[in-house]
Amino acid sequence: MFDAPTIGIIGGSGWLGRSIAQALLDKAFIPPEALVLSNRSGRHPLTGVRRSQVTLTCDNQALVERCEVIILAVRPEQFAEVEIFAENRLVISLMAGVPLAEVMALTGSRQVIRAMANAAAQIGKSYTPWLAAQAVSDPQKAFAQRLFETFGGADQIFSEGHLNYLTALVGTGPAYPALLARSLLEHALGVGLPAAIARRAVNAVVVDASQLIGPGYSVDELLQTLISYRGVTAAGLEAMIAGGFDKTIKAGLDSAASVASAMGPFVHSADTQEGPMTR
Ligand SMILES: NC(=O)c1ccc[n+]([C@@H]2O[C@H](COP(=O)([O-])OP(=O)(O)OC[C@H]3O[C@@H](n4cnc5c(N)ncnc54)[C@H](OP(=O)(O)O)[C@@H]3O)[C@@H](O)[C@H]2O)c1
Repeated sequence: MFDAPTIGIIGGSGWLGRSIAQALLDKAFIPPEALVLSNRSGRHPLTGVRRSQVTLTCDNQALVERCEVIILAVRPEQFAEVEIFAENRLVISLMAGVPLAEVMALTGSRQVIRAMANAAAQIGKSYTPWLAAQAVSDPQKAFAQRLFETFGGADQIFSEGHLNYLTALVGTGPAYPALLARSLLEHALGVGLPAAIARRAVNAVVVDASQLIGPGYSVDELLQTLISYRGVTAAGLEAMIAGGFDKTIKAGLDSAASVASAMGPFVHSADTQEGPMTR
């Protein structure tokens, strides 16, 4: 069954849903005829020649009937409206903060995987930790790992608490680097640098130079080496650390993680229109 299953993405036109649909096609993970997307608006998210071969439906249960693997890519607060019965299907939920037990209860499937992808799926660079319910078979787990690798890296984890924490750490995708970039940019503009130069300089630091982290250097080695020069970089780093950089980052992660852990009851609240989510 899991050599060439049909895959349905509920919410297949959203940021994550369409990024994953595109990755599945670009990597030839499945043929376009084996991909079904759903949404409420009926707007097709894909362009190009393969678009017509990918089925789009507004009927979520019809998608379930056609597919062996169902990916849930709606927002947590939209989940209650999805109303599917997906018994004996592999259900992969991308929803932040919705526990495995909730997904099982609302889909009728015991074969549920919770995964925390992020917006970098759009460029094939999501890191996607995932957690499987007991009833998920080994071939299904191997399949899920391969599927997540079409849009980045992935690891199986074994604790729902860890997945909630990783929602805060990695589900946020580009958010924390974007905040750092904004601070650097505001400062550079504040000292009078031309805007185009300031933007290129900040991108070079946040996007390009940060790629030295990982291959060849551990974070600690890199920082120690830079601090040991006792020059310009050391002065910058030491002032930032003394000013509470670490404390601020940790408080931010604590706050995001506690929201991720508390989101579960969301899907029970029929009259809740809006609420916290990863984006
Ligand atoms: N984006 C991220 O960076 C990110 C990171 C980590 C986790 N996540 C999780 O991924 C999930 C999707 O996030 P997103 O940012 O991709 O959301 P999004 O861009 O708002 O997409 C949601 C999609 O769901 C569709 N939809 C809503 N209600 C539906 C229904 N009843 N039936 C079928 N389709 C429906 C929407 O299309 P219509 O309006 O046409 O129905 C849209 O295509 C969320 O649960 C979020 O927690 C996202």
